[in-house]
Order: sequence, then structure tokens, then C-alpha cells
Amino acid sequence: MKMIIGLRNSIDLAKKMAKKKKIAFSLLETRNFPDGESYLRFATPVKGNTVYLVQSLHPDPNNSLIELVFAARGARAQGAKRIVGVVPYLAYMRQDKRFKDGEVISSRHMALLLERSLDELITVDPHLHRYNSLSELFSIPAKKLSAVEEVAKYIDKKFPKNTVIIGPDEESFQWALVVATLIKHKAVIFTKRRSSSRKVNIKIKEGFDWKGKEIVIIDDIISTGHTMVETVKELKRRKVKAVHCICVHGILAEGALKKLKKAGAKSVVSCNTIPSPTNKIDLSGLIAKELR
Ligand code: R5P
Repeated sequence: MKMIIGLRNSIDLAKKMAKKKKIAFSLLETRNFPDGESYLRFATPVKGNTVYLVQSLHPDPNNSLIELVFAARGARAQGAKRIVGVVPYLAYMRQDKRFKDGEVISSRHMALLLERSLDELITVDPHLHRYNSLSELFSIPAKKLSAVEEVAKYIDKKFPKNTVIIGPDEESFQWALVVATLIKHKAVIFTKRRSSSRKVNIKIKEGFDWKGKEIVIIDDIISTGHTMVETVKELKRRKVKAVHCICVHGILAEGALKKLKKAGAKSVVSCNTIPSPTNKIDLSGLIAKELR
């Protein structure tokens, strides 16, 4: 038998997937002991079953990761037949290089923890920049799904045909350009210089008539929001009609949503890989299809 088990960060998404795929849904009961340690209990026996453990690694990336690893190992100890980690947002992927001497390349260690606990991994738009594919990180089968078609459908439904799609930095072409191509919109990719987690500089493409244009900026992640905020500001200076921000993973840390609204973003939309008030694009169908 197959079971979809919702962990702390992804209960709603897991329920939707179970309904779409007509697979039994169950919970991993989770609470914290007074000292902060996690208590985990499978609400339904997992013995002999294929279990899909659904857990996004945000919010609280460190505890979420530990709970997923403990759940996977616990399921194995209780006799589960196959353990698939469905991790809509895979944290730590941006720590993919030693930028300064002594830095730990955390993405590698996150991958080691997961591959030693799971049989397979399914994730959505992982931040692949210095890694070309998940197989460079994981020795277990690791499937990358992409939200681009769902994002494209959303834009097609909500925005006029002449809306210009912007990728705020060189890496964002994987989302911005692909989405624009799917719905035959114009796409422009900017360049970004990041001097720290909270300081970015966006270089806009000159020689384009921005005035009066409706704009959608697309990126994989909005974290502190600085990438989007600086892009919105640059575009507003050029008198565009309206700027909207769309991302796959709406981390929205440190008041990012408020900062974006203040900078003049007309709307901020994300996919439901992470619980967020900005979630408007449902990926439960996309992920459910992959549960074979
Ligand atoms: C990094 O290159 C990603 O694609 C995003 O642009 C980045 O994570 C956004 O971070 P923030 O919102 O903190 O600028």
C-alpha cells in the first residue's frame, strides 16, 4: 500500500496531493519536548508500505531537516518498504561553494543526510546554480520538478498579453525565460551583484522602452526580498505601469513582503511549496503526478 504522510511544514499540501492521487493520507504527529527536542510518532502503521514523507525545509530549516531524517529512519525501523522524501523546497542549495576560506559547503551535507535516510527524493525547482543537476549531489534517484508551466498558466490567465517578463539575475533565466517562451511573452534578464545576504545591486538592461509597461518579475526564491526590491525600484524609476513579483518558493524572511509593497510591487505571488500568505499557485497536482 502507498501512504502520503504530511510532516509539520507541508500538511495542507500533502492532504491535497493525497486527494488528487487517491492515496491514503496520514500524519506524523510532531511536538516539541520542553527542551526543544522533537517528538515524532506515525499516526498509522507504516510496515510494508511505500511512504511518501512530505516536508518542505522551510520554515525552520534545521529542525525540519532533522525531523525528515528521523521520520525516514523511523519509518525504515518500523518496516516501511520504500521511503520517498517529497521535499517541495530543498533548503541549503544556495550554499554550493566555499566563498570564504573555512566555509562549510552545507548543500553537500544536507544531501548526505537525506540520501542515507531516503530511497528517493522528489523536489521542486531546487536552486541549481553551481550544480548542473541533482545527480551531482545525490547518489539516490532525485527528481527535479519545475513549476514553470503552472507559473506560465497563472500569468496567462491574470495578465495582459504584452506583459514583459523579467529575470532579476543571470540564474533566473531558468524560470523567467522558460515561462516567457511558454506563453510567448517578451523576456528580459538583468544582472545582479551581491555583496552580502542583504545587499544586492541590480543592473537593468538599457535601450528598452520601459515606460507604461506591465511587468512580472520571476525568480525561484524570494528570501530577504532584496533582489526583488532592487529590481522593482529600478523599474519604477523608469516609469513602468505596474510591477508584479512571482516566485516558486516564498520564504519572505525579515519582512520581505512589507519591503516589496513599500518599494511599489503591485502584487507578490508564490507557489505553495512553503506555507505563505502569498501562495496563489497550487503545485499539488504537479507533485502528485510524480508519485508512481
Ligand atoms: C539566488 O540567486 C536566487 O535565485 C534568488 O535571487 C535569491 O535567493 C533571492 O534572495 P533575496 O530575496 O534574499 O534577495
